[in-house]
Amino acid sequence: MTSREKNFDRLARPYRLLEHIAFGPLLEQARFRHLDRLKGRQRILLLGEGDGRVLARVCALAPLATIDCLDLSSAMLNRAQARLSPADRTRVRFRQEDARTADLAPGT
Ligand SMILES: C[S@@+](CC[C@H](N)C(=O)[O-])C[C@H]1O[C@@H](n2cnc3c(N)ncnc32)[C@H](O)[C@@H]1O
Repeated sequence: MTSREKNFDRLARPYRLLEHIAFGPLLEQARFRHLDRLKGRQRILLLGEGDGRVLARVCALAPLATIDCLDLSSAMLNRAQARLSPADRTRVRFRQEDARTADLAPGT
């Protein structure tokens, strides 16, 4: 486990609270600002997803999409997974990988 991965594993649980203390609602607003552009898409790739708030929103916006959700931290990915319904979970591939070296299929 790399130190970066460990750091984000430790942050996964308090991340939302720390974010709110630091930025109030601003980061959450920015996070969702342009997501509507993904409405109805079929293939979606999320890099450095974090705790799954974007993933949950994207699942709702694109109910037919298959989604690759990539993050270095297993704790973040676990939290992201826990946000989804069992049905949505079946169309998300959770990948604990480094975005800098991940094998990303053409078209994603
Ligand atoms: C500060 S959090 C932000 C999460 C999310 N993008 C959000 O807006 O809430 C950064 C996330 O990126 C992940 N991350 C950092 N470097 C990464 C890398 N090289 N490859 C994949 N994920 C990475 C971390 O594990 C963490 O979940």
